[in-house]
Amino acid sequence: MNFKKNILCIGAGYVGGPTMAVIAYKCPQFRVTIADINPARIAEWNSDELPLYEPGLDEIIRATRGKNLFFTTDIQRSIRDNDIIFVSVNTPTKMFGAGAGMAADLQYWEKTARQILQYSESSKIVIEKSTLPVKTAQAMENILRNAHSFTFEVLSNPEFLAEGTAIKDMENPDRVLIGSRETASGFKAREELVEIYANWIPREKIITSNIWSSELSKIVSNAFLAQRISSINAISALCEKTDADIIEVARAVGMDSRIGGKYLNSSVGFGGSCFKKDILNLVYLCRHYGLNEVADYWEGVVKINQYQQERFTLNMLTAMFNTLADKKICLFGVSFKANTSDTRESPAIFIAKKLLEEKAEIIITDPQALRNARTDLAGMEGRVSFIDDPYKAAAGCHAIAVMTEWDLYRDLDYQKIYDTMIKPASLFDGRNIIDHRRCHNIGFNVYPIGKPALTHF
Ligand code: NAD
Ligand code: UGA
Repeated sequence: MNFKKNILCIGAGYVGGPTMAVIAYKCPQFRVTIADINPARIAEWNSDELPLYEPGLDEIIRATRGKNLFFTTDIQRSIRDNDIIFVSVNTPTKMFGAGAGMAADLQYWEKTARQILQYSESSKIVIEKSTLPVKTAQAMENILRNAHSFTFEVLSNPEFLAEGTAIKDMENPDRVLIGSRETASGFKAREELVEIYANWIPREKIITSNIWSSELSKIVSNAFLAQRISSINAISALCEKTDADIIEVARAVGMDSRIGGKYLNSSVGFGGSCFKKDILNLVYLCRHYGLNEVADYWEGVVKINQYQQERFTLNMLTAMFNTLADKKICLFGVSFKANTSDTRESPAIFIAKKLLEEKAEIIITDPQALRNARTDLAGMEGRVSFIDDPYKAAAGCHAIAVMTEWDLYRDLDYQKIYDTMIKPASLFDGRNIIDHRRCHNIGFNVYPIGKPALTHF
């Protein structure tokens, strides 16, 4: 079949996979290829067991794979054969050298740029889909400028999807942002990308800007979202001291239409691969430009998140008579949020490690993320076990700590669970999703976030 456009995405991860699958699904007239250097990951994308859990993804992959969606490790050929190239490789926090622990590690991004230069045989539009420090497009252009007989136009098209709702977010985004150079060729390339999205997204939601605003807007969006969570989590600590209730406070504050009610769920802290890394990247950039007050302001968001996770662990220790040694603690959920198998920067992993330092024994249950958790906690076998069934996981434990807001944990038979636990049995609700009063009546000592504890002593 003759396709109208050939589109490539380099990087078959949490972003590359779902975003390109939706483009293929919405645009059967385009041929979409996703290439990755990791053969195991590509093999999983080509199998019945996809490398990640995302609601709705299976169906879309089944409808498109082998028709107009293809997964490959042949990067050379893919670059040669496609004129529109999205780059969605990882941009983690740099862990070595200058900027270690703060700056973005751009090695995967730069290697990709060099591969594009090396294997291209015609002009291309190269689209930054990865989250990158502002001004990265310039580095990309400087590398790609070395081609002899053809040209590259670099666009910024940051991705705003959240895991667990990736397909919905792609199908019906709040906005699509496309940044370009403000030149004739920049505008032309930008229009070509607008046309792709316009196949299913209303034009008024596709916004354009200069390329630097686009790069910066992505990081700032994440910083604002994370800032709201740190704001409400900071206040949760004050609620616990003053008998105020964080859910009531969040409702009252969020009903002000100028503030709005989203991202005000107090929790054990935000996780995920991006919030922390993107804010640290913002902090690093600000320091680089000598904006130390601005850097300090944003760094506070990360510090409060760390404080919230440490506070949660210390509260557990205090509530359980200041010793966790040889106590069995069951973690309900290990993914960084519900509806994903992703455990990157999950508060549950941080807390599991802290509890192990206290010499507790940990039992982890989760409907989707145990495979990743096993990898994250490799080497700690013996003190950590993984059990699919939450009833079996909690049996014989001194405490349960709810780490992830999976719906499943709202509706369990807590009487049945309580009956199998060691007494006094404690329930630490790091997501405020359980019926606290009911569990207290059953016999649990209940410790929510940002609310008075309900105990029997
Ligand atoms: P990921 O680690 O899941 O996937 C990245 C993939 O890129 C990996 O499979 C890796 O093997 C591949 N890769 C690395 N170098 C390569 C190369 N030279 N050639 C081919 N493949 C290569 O990462 P992710 O979560 O998909 O994130 C990708 C980017 O998108 C990051 O910049 C991230 O900040 C951003 N982002 C992520 C999310 C999210 O929800 N995860 C949302 C918005 C934006
Ligand atoms: C976030 C953003 O929401 C996306 O727009 C962005 O594209 C993405 O980061 C990215 O750049 O990677 P994601 O991390 O997948 O998406 O998930 P969120 O739903 O934003 O949740 C992040 C963390 O905050 C989770 O641990 C979640 O449990 C926590 N959270 C969220 C709270 O603790 N309280 C809230 O009210 C909301």
